[in-house]
Amino acid sequence: MKFKKLVKSVITATTVITLPIMAAQAIAADLTYGFSQIGSESGWRTSETASIKAEAQKQGINLKFSDAQQKQENQIKAVRSFIAQGVDGILLAPVVETGWDQVLKEAKRAQIPVVLIDRGVNSDPSLYLTKVASDFKEEGSLAGAWLAAKTNGVCDIVELQGTVGSSAAIDRKEGFEKLITNFPNMKIIRSQSGDFTRAGGKQVMESFLKAENGGAGICAVFAHNDDMALGAILAIKEAGLKPSKDIIVVSIDAVPDIFKAMADGEANATIELNPHLGAPAFKAIAAAKNGESVDKWIKANGPIYLPDTAAAEYKKRK
Ligand code: AHR
Repeated sequence: MKFKKLVKSVITATTVITLPIMAAQAIAADLTYGFSQIGSESGWRTSETASIKAEAQKQGINLKFSDAQQKQENQIKAVRSFIAQGVDGILLAPVVETGWDQVLKEAKRAQIPVVLIDRGVNSDPSLYLTKVASDFKEEGSLAGAWLAAKTNGVCDIVELQGTVGSSAAIDRKEGFEKLITNFPNMKIIRSQSGDFTRAGGKQVMESFLKAENGGAGICAVFAHNDDMALGAILAIKEAGLKPSKDIIVVSIDAVPDIFKAMADGEANATIELNPHLGAPAFKAIAAAKNGESVDKWIKANGPIYLPDTAAAEYKKRK
């Protein structure tokens, strides 16, 4: 008798707790979103993909995922296919800034909200719902300010740019350049794209080292992401120099491997780029569907990390 009562009360309690969760999932389960991702060029990008997929699963959203392999034409095809399938919303991480007007107009005509994820476009903002991204100019500016303080405003810099035409590369460059104009003895002596990849960063850094007398004239490398910085560190070591001591290394993303490099004394600073952009993107679409207004830019900026906390951060993140 006692046992029966206990079972009954457990069933009642479980029902009370789980029914609202199940109801919420049933609502979310009716939602299908398309996600056009750039590719998997960097450790950060891989984390972003995993985080957005996990958030969709947590919320019971059916997420159709498409990897564009760095090609805008693949992204345009994917967005058109999402429109044809009548998805409830589209997440788009645009590889470059230009060339999106037509496909964004098609999504708008189909009344499908598009959320730009992590990178921006130069289309009319009325063509998309919002952009969930950090301020890349601020990141570049923070990197420049930190380097100015570290070098007392005297430094010949080589720059590893991200993908040509991407908002991440354009804005990080602009933010950094603008900041260092305050310091007449800081200048970028060489600048080239390493396409946000480790292999690209290594190859371009090798050519910089060769062109600059084995690295003798280089004070610092500013890499638009950690993966290129990690490639550059390899090139610096292979050239017989000590990264972080002979050549200062500052980059952006805060991936686990750069914390390992900082803990090992081979990198100097990284600025965090938050990869957890799924929750704010899904929230924005839900808000728009409820008739609420949504800001055109939902910012997600992170702090700068230095070697003093690197070992602890690496432990937490690896
Ligand atoms: O758009 C963000 C950039 O893209 C990240 O900094 C980089 O790692 C990536 O691939």
